[in-house]
Amino acid sequence: MAVNESLLPAVERVAELLRGAEHIACLTGAGVSAESGVPTFRGVGGLWEGRRPETLATPEAFAADPEEVWRFYLWRRRLLVACKPNPGHYALARLERRKPGLTLITQNVDGLHLEAGSRRVLAVHGDIWIDRCTRCGHEARATDKDLQTIPHCGSCGALTRPGVVWFGEMLPADVWTQAERAAASCDLMLVVGTSSLVYPAASLADVARAGGATIVEINPQATPLTSEADVGIPSPSGEALPAIVDRLGDS
Ligand code: OAD
Repeated sequence: MAVNESLLPAVERVAELLRGAEHIACLTGAGVSAESGVPTFRGVGGLWEGRRPETLATPEAFAADPEEVWRFYLWRRRLLVACKPNPGHYALARLERRKPGLTLITQNVDGLHLEAGSRRVLAVHGDIWIDRCTRCGHEARATDKDLQTIPHCGSCGALTRPGVVWFGEMLPADVWTQAERAAASCDLMLVVGTSSLVYPAASLADVARAGGATIVEINPQATPLTSEADVGIPSPSGEALPAIVDRLGDS
């Protein structure tokens, strides 16, 4: 789908900002994968509608009932098997090739940015396809062969957990340091498909703004960031991002 005509001036403005920017950071959230069929978290039909994050996405929930938590993550893996990158993911991969100074920071655990060809991806909330041993820390990449059985460690046999960040846990330190550095030093930050409600990821836009960066938000719904952004494109990212990147041309 093409971007709504009334948004073309904003699309052109963002393309112009990208042309002039050297260091670009892009922060993505669940909305960027919505057009791939991956459910978002908040709002109608979101994963947290009718489910309580504290019973499914905290270390306490896992300690209390690992099977229940694993059932949720195995179900999400089964959903993801059918999902492919959408034009928004591909546009960001093209943007990276066009602008090598781009750092893509994602809260998504679905791996779709990498599948679309983005190379420098900082996955601050981890990767849903990783099984991490709760005893020895060994990590293995899950396949889609058996998405029903709770995985155990291939090295020591203990119970594993999904390699994602849960509420109340620290973000992976090295990845987070790189994300903060990219936010602090960028000239331009694109904030795409996130409710900007979950910290510390949402603070990256504040870090970028404090460093003097221009902030662009792409999201069909208003968020706490909307009034702070310099440019807003209230459109699905699978429409807005290709329209923007198409305007950059080859040189
Ligand atoms: P949310 O579900 O909170 O927000 C998704 C955002 O995407 C909303 O603001 C929607 O308006 C927007 N959106 C929906 N469709 C879109 C589309 N086609 N194009 C662009 N935007 C669209 O998801 P996140 O902000 O990613 O953390 O949530 C942040 C974190 O909260 C997640 O990483 C997860 C969750 O709980 C953990 O599990 C720790």
